[in-house]
Amino acid sequence: MRSVVVKEPGQLNIESRPVPVPGAHEVRVKIAFAGICGSDVHIYHGHNPFAKYPRVIGHEFYGIIDAVGEQVSPARIGERVAVDPVVSCGHCYPCSVGRPNVCTQLQVIGVHRDGGFSDYACVPAKNAWRIPEAISDRQATMVEPFTIAANITAQLQPTAQDIALVYGAGPMGLTIIQALKGVYGVKQVIVVDRIAERLQMARENGADLTLDNTDQPLAEQLAQRLAPTLVIDAACHPAILQEAILLASPAARIGILGFSGEASTLTQQSITSKEISIFSSRLNSGRFPLVIDWMEKGLIRPEALITHCMPLEQVKEAMEIFANDRKTCCKVLLQLG
Ligand code: NAI
Ligand code: MN
Ligand code: ZN
Repeated sequence: MRSVVVKEPGQLNIESRPVPVPGAHEVRVKIAFAGICGSDVHIYHGHNPFAKYPRVIGHEFYGIIDAVGEQVSPARIGERVAVDPVVSCGHCYPCSVGRPNVCTQLQVIGVHRDGGFSDYACVPAKNAWRIPEAISDRQATMVEPFTIAANITAQLQPTAQDIALVYGAGPMGLTIIQALKGVYGVKQVIVVDRIAERLQMARENGADLTLDNTDQPLAEQLAQRLAPTLVIDAACHPAILQEAILLASPAARIGILGFSGEASTLTQQSITSKEISIFSSRLNSGRFPLVIDWMEKGLIRPEALITHCMPLEQVKEAMEIFANDRKTCCKVLLQLG
């Protein structure tokens, strides 16, 4: 089989590898589509602190179960599945409180163990979620990115009353906008970015108002408006949190997604005087069924994010486009079948 292997930072190749045999509690997935994510690019360039090399990358993938381990029902062969990349121990403290995404033994498929840019992958049977007929193969590949939006919004509990401010109109910002509008019916979603084309995409994905903060500070642009009651940082620059706290309404909730190791400068006063709640979110804690349900009900539109679809052989070119062509590119799918 073909596998996209990052041998060490900067070295990415398609290798020929033997088709893996599923372990007792695993299923083998014959992969049809896989999505490229910023973290794949980070592993490629050696910027992901969690990655171990050599690594088959890819954590957003969809396919069909073609073999099962001894402890898995053979009835699952032929099932269409999207794979949750979060592999957890099931008994540590975070696992015991329903937070397997921060398991003390966390293993992420495509990061800590081999992933989905490959003709086949063996994964724990419980990570392979059945996809209903109403959801297309391409849509099913988008379940994982939407689980990021599902996880942070589950923490923030948006309501129709909220005025939401979303930083960043990249793939993450756009999935969040869709969830805020399509699932939670948030009254107003304001989106800020520095790339006009991305703000255009934000509007196409449901943003009510878009702002460009390249030249004029956001605080000035929002000065005459009601303060946001909900802020989500999907741009993830360390300076944003301070601004978000300043701009937020008293009693607002703020959600952060970033992994920067650089310090953010905050005062207790700015947070406590408005009794702001700050939530963080990493990957997803069992949100696959929720997002599959959103898709089945038509609450979100995953196709709106897919701008490119390329064969696996063109993985290098696809990663180049994804990383560099930020004006026209949102989600790139690799087609394996
Ligand atoms: P992206 O880089 O495509 O999008 C970020 C957007 O933010 C860009 O359009 C950029 O122009 C904009 N931006 C950057 N600084 C800004 C600023 N100061 N003001 C306004 N706009 C600004 O990235 P993508 O794929 O959408 O992911 C966003 C972030 O989410 C990344 O930092 C990534 O590491 C993080 N992430 C976190 C996850 C989690 O589970 N916590 C999962 C996936 C991504
Ligand atoms: Mn991803
Ligand atoms: Zn655990």
